[in-house]
Amino acid sequence: MQNIIINGKEIASAIKFEIAEELRKIKNNTGKEAGLAVILVGDDPASTVYVRNKKKACQEVGIRSSEYHLPKETQQDTLLNLINSLNKNPEIHGILVQLPLPNHIQSDKIIDAINPDKDVDGFHPVNVGKLVANTASLISCTPLGVMTLLDKSEIPVEGKKVVIVGRSNIVGKPAALLFLHRNATVTICHSKTKNLSDYTNKADILVAAIGKPAFIKADMVKKGAVVIDVGINRDEAGLIGDVDFPSVKERVSYITPVPGGVGPMTIAMLMKNTLLAFKNTLNKN
Ligand code: GUN
Repeated sequence: MQNIIINGKEIASAIKFEIAEELRKIKNNTGKEAGLAVILVGDDPASTVYVRNKKKACQEVGIRSSEYHLPKETQQDTLLNLINSLNKNPEIHGILVQLPLPNHIQSDKIIDAINPDKDVDGFHPVNVGKLVANTASLISCTPLGVMTLLDKSEIPVEGKKVVIVGRSNIVGKPAALLFLHRNATVTICHSKTKNLSDYTNKADILVAAIGKPAFIKADMVKKGAVVIDVGINRDEAGLIGDVDFPSVKERVSYITPVPGGVGPMTIAMLMKNTLLAFKNTLNKN
């Protein structure tokens, strides 16, 4: 068994390099720069790290990022007003509201308020609907990152049995649609699935997006499978994925590590979506 560890960090760097080049050319030709607004409500430690990494990536590729760090008591209407003003701001091409939001704020109301053309997370119902219809341009960054990792690693998807464990709006559901559009045979499993390993053991490509550390063990994985670990869990030792990496690695053909697998790709795809949203405005003017 070849046991190839997919280097998401390296692939993400190469993509960011291409994005930076394209943004530089656009700036030389038009004088215009892309702008991304990143909104963080509260001080959730994981969200704070994600937002910091997103801002850092913006600097790397040449996207102007504006951060709006609001206190956790912020009222829903205050956040809606901010989104409305960013929707109208021609210098802002992408708006990202870091999730999860505090409990007193209804996330769906906030997502609905974002102009779909600036929804670089691909969470707005218009963009989700377009994904279902396979006409999407802004697609949720983590599933897009997963598909891009497979493509860059030249791992075929068509006709494969893909099993996704996890049914979130951010990862599981959009990932299932992306794989379906690529002619894979897709199964979505979740916390109520009975005899989970009956499904995971049949997967040619197994996507773990459960949010439970080291949940996928070696005996749940088919020999020679491709295993994509979307989990980012924190324990005393640091970051740990949803896959029990040391044991599973021995059975697979390809596997993504945590950290350094899907995580950097999510951020690279955010940069890609921001570039896309920016280019769409250039074409309109
Ligand atoms: N929280 C966890 N993942 C994401 C993501 O991709 N986008 C946003 N906005 N929040 C998240």
